Amino acid sequence: MKVVVCITGASGVCYAKRLLEVLKERDIKTSLIISSSAKRIIEHELDRDIQYLIDLSYEYYENNDFFSPLASGSHKFHSVVVVPCSMKTLSAVANGYSNNLICRVCDVAIKERRKIILMPREMPLSPIHLENMLKLSKLGVVIMPPIPAFYGKPKTVEDIVDFVVGRVLDNLGIPNDLFRRWGDI
Ligand SMILES: Cc1cc2nc3c(=O)[nH]c(=O)nc-3n(C[C@H](O)[C@H](O)[C@H](O)COP(=O)(O)O)c2cc1C
Repeated sequence: MKVVVCITGASGVCYAKRLLEVLKERDIKTSLIISSSAKRIIEHELDRDIQYLIDLSYEYYENNDFFSPLASGSHKFHSVVVVPCSMKTLSAVANGYSNNLICRVCDVAIKERRKIILMPREMPLSPIHLENMLKLSKLGVVIMPPIPAFYGKPKTVEDIVDFVVGRVLDNLGIPNDLFRRWGDI
C-alpha cells in the first residue's frame, strides 16, 4: 500500500505533518509532494521544517517533476490525499488542469478510479469553490474538509488534529484509535 500525500498552500499543514507521522508509525509507504506555496506556509505554521516532513516520507518528489513515476497511470499507488487542499489546486483538479505533479497525480487517480481525498480549506466558501467540490464529489472524489467535531471533548490542539487525521485513516481503511468515537464516550 502506497499513499501519495500532497501538501498545498492552504492553512492547516499540521494535518499533513500528523498524517505522515501516523502512516510512518504503521509502516505505510508514502510519496510526498509539496507545492511551493505550501513550503512557505510550512515554515510559517509548523514547529518543524520541510526536511522533517521529507524524512517521514518513503519518497519525495518536487512538484515540477513530471518524470516522476507518479505522473503515470501505469505506476501503482493506493490513494492520494491532498492535505490541506488550496482552492487553486481544487479548481485545477476539478478542471483537469495538470500544470504540476500534484494536479497530475490527482488527474491520474480520477482517471484510474483510485481513491482520492481532498481536504479543502477556506472560509467562507464561494459558489466557485462549492461547484468545484460538487463536481469532484460526483466523480467519486472524497471531499473531506478538516472540520473537527467536539463531542469527544478535545483538550489540546493535538486532540483536534488527531480527530481529523483519524477520520482520514478511517476513510483509507486504516484501523486507528487516534480519537474518541461517538458510542465509546
Ligand atoms: C499564510 C497563507 C495562508 C493561505 N491559506 C490559504 C487557505 O487556507 N486556502 C486557500 O485556498 N489558499 C490559501 N492561501 C493562498 C494559496 O497559497 C495560493 O492561492 C497558492 O497559489 C496556492 O497554490 P498551490 O495550490 O499550488 O499550493 C494562503 C496563502 C498564505 C501565504
